[in-house]
Amino acid sequence: MNTRRDFLRDSMLLGAVTAIAGCAAGRFGSAGAGGSMYGYADKPMDRIRVGFVGVGKRGYAAYRRCTWLIPHLEATAVCDVDDWKCDRCEQFALDHGLNPPKKYVGPEAYKALCDDPNVDVVYNIASREMHLPVNLYGMCAGKHVMTEVPGAMTVDGCWETVETSERTHRHCMLLENCCYGEFELLAMSLAKAGRLGEVVHGDCGYIHEQRDLFRRMPERAKDTVNRTGNWYPTHGLGPVAVAMDINRGDRLDYLVSAETDSISFREYQLRRFADNPAKRDVRMRHGDLNTSIVRTVKGKTIMVQHDVGLARPYSRIGQFCGTHGMLRIFPDFRLALETVPPQDGMIGYLGDKEAENVRREYMHPLWKTAGVHARALDGGHDGMDFLMDLRWAYCLKNGLPLDLSVYDLASWSSLVELTARSVLSRSAAVDIPDFTRGGWKTAKPFELVDVPADILPPLDTPRFNYDI
Ligand SMILES: NC(=O)c1ccc[n+]([C@@H]2O[C@H](COP(=O)([O-])OP(=O)(O)OC[C@H]3O[C@@H](n4cnc5c(N)ncnc54)[C@H](O)[C@@H]3O)[C@@H](O)[C@H]2O)c1
Repeated sequence: MNTRRDFLRDSMLLGAVTAIAGCAAGRFGSAGAGGSMYGYADKPMDRIRVGFVGVGKRGYAAYRRCTWLIPHLEATAVCDVDDWKCDRCEQFALDHGLNPPKKYVGPEAYKALCDDPNVDVVYNIASREMHLPVNLYGMCAGKHVMTEVPGAMTVDGCWETVETSERTHRHCMLLENCCYGEFELLAMSLAKAGRLGEVVHGDCGYIHEQRDLFRRMPERAKDTVNRTGNWYPTHGLGPVAVAMDINRGDRLDYLVSAETDSISFREYQLRRFADNPAKRDVRMRHGDLNTSIVRTVKGKTIMVQHDVGLARPYSRIGQFCGTHGMLRIFPDFRLALETVPPQDGMIGYLGDKEAENVRREYMHPLWKTAGVHARALDGGHDGMDFLMDLRWAYCLKNGLPLDLSVYDLASWSSLVELTARSVLSRSAAVDIPDFTRGGWKTAKPFELVDVPADILPPLDTPRFNYDI
């Protein structure tokens, strides 16, 4: 069983990371001097020179995708603690007629990459505990930052990210690729058009059976070993928050969270590592399944699950429930829209054929324009990684606001700590800070955004596997 002392130990460990990062942020004068980041757009950029920090499995995929498929991007630098990972990026560039990136190797080398005048944007795909320090240092060095999920692992870290972004007026966008999935964007499109009525509840999560990771990739399993709570909330939460216009007219208010014991993990350890006490006897601090319920200020709810321990197929659930219909993505797609007027006084739903017509009609503009390319070019995770990178690069190139704000990063990522706090206090309600400081009340809703078709790479561009 997890104890309060365990949680405090966690907080102290996480606090240490924040303190290191805070030194970098301190270089930039008083907090909030640059003002709100809502609607912020930098001037258009001719060239977008990107430095990649952490070119491991996902980072190498991102490096190849961005250099090969995304227009206007130049990869000018890469950084990792392992030199061979930087070398393989260099080799990829040489093999494909691209300028090789400058290589920065070592645990602190990201600072030199951020300070490099040939880097305009820091793309942070390093290990999770490095997200915060790299993001803060990058913004303080005057660079826009795109960061892998979660943006920070503590509430303090989320605040530091917001304050640094406001102070430096640099973007810090969460690379929440699941916000760009075809059906997640369909949900947004239907919600905007009122076809679901008002979206009052969402069910979502990250359900990805990973007991075997403990054997294959212990690095990736370390958060499961060490953390209570939902340490990976944004893949599920992000798309629901977008469909509900969270931080733009509503905001996350409080949550309650409960977690099972590590029953399935324990059974797996005993079964797979019977003769290996070093692995068999590791005590998992994470339960098999964490379930949290978030309530918004405007009286809506979102159920978020994190399950890497039970024997069930991959799912993000993706259920958007409105006053006039619902859309569910996993395990199988279902769109149920109320017929108007209700038949025979009872609520009826569109038949499958009509629902399919609605699906086609309301496909998000970005998917209508670029969905074929996203899939045909193996754009990563069924194309959504490609669309995400395409969008932020297009926005920077043209001096437009980015799709997701630093406030989305902070409020979604804060669940990492807040769910743990709730679990460790017998599921007591925990407040979610208003990282917008009231800005949510007047911020404009999310928009249905697109890109022009003429910027897309040719469909016969040689393909790589960008999935990890
Ligand atoms: N959005 C998605 O779909 C998705 C999928 C997988 C992983 N991720 C995220 O991507 C990130 C990377 O995951 P991964 O699976 O590629 O892990 P990985 O371990 O393969 O990559 C992390 C890399 O960061 C490097 N690194 C660690 N400390 C560093 C430092 N101080 N400076 C520079 N580099 C450093 C490591 O050497 C490693 O190469 C994680 O944050 C993970 O949560 C996101």
